[in-house]
Amino acid sequence: MKFSTKAIHVGQEPDKETGAVIPPIYMTSTYAQEAPNQHKGYDYTRAGNPNFKNLEATLASLEQGKVATVFSSGIGATTALVSTMKQGDKVVITSDLYGGTYRLFSRVFKQFGIDFTSVNTQDLVAVETALKASPKFIFLESPTNPLLRVSDIEAISALAKKYNVLTVVDNTFATPFFQNPLTLGADFVLHSTTKYIGGHSDVIGGVVVTNKEDWKEKLDFARMAIGLNPSPFDNWMTTRGIKTLALRMARHEANAKQVADFFKHHPKVKKVYYPGLAEHPNHEIAKKQMSGFGGIVSVEFDLSLEQSMKVVSSFRFFTLAESLGGVESLVDHPASMTHASIPKEEREKNGLSDGLIRFSCGVEDAEDLIEDLDSVLKNF
Ligand SMILES: Cc1ncc(COP(=O)(O)O)c(C=O)c1O
Repeated sequence: MKFSTKAIHVGQEPDKETGAVIPPIYMTSTYAQEAPNQHKGYDYTRAGNPNFKNLEATLASLEQGKVATVFSSGIGATTALVSTMKQGDKVVITSDLYGGTYRLFSRVFKQFGIDFTSVNTQDLVAVETALKASPKFIFLESPTNPLLRVSDIEAISALAKKYNVLTVVDNTFATPFFQNPLTLGADFVLHSTTKYIGGHSDVIGGVVVTNKEDWKEKLDFARMAIGLNPSPFDNWMTTRGIKTLALRMARHEANAKQVADFFKHHPKVKKVYYPGLAEHPNHEIAKKQMSGFGGIVSVEFDLSLEQSMKVVSSFRFFTLAESLGGVESLVDHPASMTHASIPKEEREKNGLSDGLIRFSCGVEDAEDLIEDLDSVLKNF
């Protein structure tokens, strides 16, 4: 079965009882039992719900994995994985990654004795050195948020196996449409389904997909025990969004390519970050492991910080907002918004300057998006 057929049909069989083509939303917190613990597979929605199961089947299939567990958010998915660790365990994380993930490691798990090391995972020598310290997981984001750096998933997964370390890949930016980390040797793939998978900026969610069937129970347990469950309604919305994932991603990418090209030739632009550009430092790895380069373009303008701040709030179609991956274009200033929780010193060490602007290219008409960018930049 090919990608879009899976996105539309797997986990989406018509309802057996009524014939409804679209499985209903099971808005229930609990389930009737015939006798204590005698039920039809569900007892309480924090532990499970048919809408979770349907979405898990779709996502496992799209990521070419055996099992999936859905969560309340991308951060919830990371929390579930880390909750399987013990005090004194270590984790290696990509040095450029979503600020909220960094905050989770630095301000929450660290207090519980989970040690983390931030490593430039584009450097395989640095990765191997970090793996020698026997972390439990290596946590990659590829491409990264917001600098669009690409790590060699196949090479890192192979190295990690050598040292008995589990590889987790946050595949939020690429989506399963452009990249399948499990087929490259990763042990877990994680998404903020809030982004492209949901696709309409109207729902928060997360998922972990794996081929390790014994981990399904562990991750379901973490969801139930910690209360990381999504709502049935949110899962139904995400399931609805997924059906057009392939169509949307093709358009997001086409628009991003045009936006990257526009910026590349613009006199007010100092640097464009987009893995689809031949001059991107990780372009060759991106080409090897991804079938497309996604919809996010980050830019450093040749403007003062004050001018850049005016630019971000002047667009007509690129709304200044947190998040990304929706049908509507968004613009973000990482240093003060999505990545403000990373100390400035740490941000700058990893190349995230105060002047960086991140564009999430939506699926509007490219001509309108370019005109919007052009007409604002003309004033600076
Ligand atoms: C790459 C990446 N991973 C994880 C997350 C966290 O996901 P959520 O906001 O759904 O908790 C985000 C959020 O922006 C993200 O960009």
